[in-house]
Amino acid sequence: MERARYLGGFAVGALAVGMCIAAGALAAMENSAKGDAVRGKSLYQACEACHSIEDNDLGPRHRGVVGRRAGSVADYSYSKALKSSDLTWDEATLDRWLTNPSALVPGTKMFFQLSGAQDRADVIAYLQLQK
Ligand code: HEC
Repeated sequence: MERARYLGGFAVGALAVGMCIAAGALAAMENSAKGDAVRGKSLYQACEACHSIEDNDLGPRHRGVVGRRAGSVADYSYSKALKSSDLTWDEATLDRWLTNPSALVPGTKMFFQLSGAQDRADVIAYLQLQK
């Protein structure tokens, strides 16, 4: 009886370890499935309706945007909302921004959304290269 309970506990423990390994493998797979900057470059054409890498347009220039504080290009006229958002652009904030700018920053004047998760990851990978 005692022995059976011990074995049962061992099995549960082994299962838990197995699940951790599986979760780790999944996380690693997600990492390797991250953005494709080449695809991102062509998707970026949609952003170019309002943005460019080097120059302010309808939207602010994107050179160096990853790692930059939101609303911090000095010679671009941001909405009050974005300027006071206290965000820094990284993979996570950019992903939320491109999913729905107004949900992340109510009152922003960017209304463009990129609905596909892979599309967002690809565009972000491209932006990461524009240091
Ligand atoms: C229809 C025009 C339009 C399109 C298309 C558009 N944006 Fe914007 N974007 C804006 C405007 C306007 C702002 C400034 C928002 C504000 O001040 O509230 C902005 C701001 C941003 C910012 C914040 C930059 C900063 O300096 O804080 C990022 C990042 C951004 N856009 C990324 C993108 C990406 C990536 C795409 C394409 C997937 C895109 N935008 C498409 C108009 C657009």
